[in-house]
Amino acid sequence: MSSERAKYPLRARRSAKAISRAVHAVNLAVRKNSTPRAGAARCIPAGPAPFRDANAACTGRYSPRRVLRVQGTARARGRGREVTEAKQVPWPGPDVVDDLSEAAGSRWRAIDPMLPAPGGLPAGCMAPLAVSGTNGLPAGIGLCCHRRIADDVLDQVWGTITRIELTPRLRDSAVLDDLLGQWRGHLAALPEASGKDSAAVVNWPSRDIGGVNALLKRGMQPLTVIAVRPARRTALAAAGISPGLVIREGEPADLDAAAELEMGVIRNDAHFGTAIMRPSTGTLVREDTRKVLTGRPGWLWVAERAGRLVGLVHVQPPPDSDWIAVMTRPGTTAYLQTMYVTPDERGSGLGGAMVKRAHDELDARGVLTTLLHYSQLNPLSVPFWSRMGYRPLWTTWEARPAAALRS
Ligand SMILES: CC(C)(COP(=O)(O)OP(=O)(O)OC[C@H]1O[C@@H](n2cnc3c(N)ncnc32)[C@H](O)[C@@H]1OP(=O)(O)O)[C@@H](O)C(=O)NCCC(=O)NCCS
Repeated sequence: MSSERAKYPLRARRSAKAISRAVHAVNLAVRKNSTPRAGAARCIPAGPAPFRDANAACTGRYSPRRVLRVQGTARARGRGREVTEAKQVPWPGPDVVDDLSEAAGSRWRAIDPMLPAPGGLPAGCMAPLAVSGTNGLPAGIGLCCHRRIADDVLDQVWGTITRIELTPRLRDSAVLDDLLGQWRGHLAALPEASGKDSAAVVNWPSRDIGGVNALLKRGMQPLTVIAVRPARRTALAAAGISPGLVIREGEPADLDAAAELEMGVIRNDAHFGTAIMRPSTGTLVREDTRKVLTGRPGWLWVAERAGRLVGLVHVQPPPDSDWIAVMTRPGTTAYLQTMYVTPDERGSGLGGAMVKRAHDELDARGVLTTLLHYSQLNPLSVPFWSRMGYRPLWTTWEARPAAALRS
């Protein structure tokens, strides 16, 4: 019996059924932990799996080994160079991982009931990073995976091309700083982490405020928020829309104008670093818009004044939203992908009326939870989505380039 097993005897007796449930959770988590972004313009990043270029470290699942792992410890040396020194530590076994996931899950439930139970972990690009508590017992692990987003995937617009992501499972947010320090040592040795179009990324529960100072200290910025709205949560009353405006379902004939409104969100978000315009963006947005406009029932609504489109709200229906549904409680989940009103029509109630139209449809179609991304730095987003009944669920912290993570 390994030392982990001795510490966690109950966990050692898991049934085959429990193991198969765990494997299922891992599969869901692979999508969750890779933070995919949908294939279209939206309030901010998103994008459906699969990533054709996904690194095996992100698509595979964590596989504990009964061996020692070699872990590098960053040490500052003369002339500003950093070298790593190998040390052998036990590879965290399934019992340790399950125990930490359970501890993280109970913390998450207490923080926000809209958070999911923690899923499995990605395979990771190397041995897991592990931290101990003051009692010397395992207090957290983190798996790192690297992805390079391909040129023909629209998700490339919603962030850097190289994304190096840490998935933590912590008993206590107090050990996050230690974990980030170890991760920094790993990144310092990676040439791709210095690339201009790279980021170190951590998704952190927005209400887990105990980790915020550690993320700030390491030079990470809270760029993006995943916000959540439970079904039938009423927004503050929307004012009526002005005469001459019509809100209706989008049609194939709206393609040119609708694709232009989708691009409007991307241009707007480029101001906040959450969208980065790519050579293929226009073509990919148009293709995505064409597909959604031909689908029925429709999930895209437009506002029209005198034959001109002046607003658009676009929702990804439940099956297509599975990639992000794992970020919240179980149940039918949709993803509000794009919300845009032309500058000349803003501030008169149109945005609120369009969201209400979409929510009425979602509630009627049995959607239990709606998620969306917004840029934390967009001054219009925070008050708007709060007023529409959404609250922050996850905050995506980034250091760009990835090597900018501070020691
Ligand atoms: C965000 C956006 C969709 C809002 O549309 P809108 O038609 O201006 O919104 P409304 O007039 O219905 O306003 C609804 C509420 O949003 C908030 N809001 C709207 N404009 C605001 C502003 N300039 N400053 C602060 N809050 C604002 C207010 O709470 C407002 O309610 P109130 O007027 O009763 O106080 C629109 O500004 C837009 O398309 N912006 C550019 C793209 C974008 O940022 N999209 C959101 C991405 S997540």
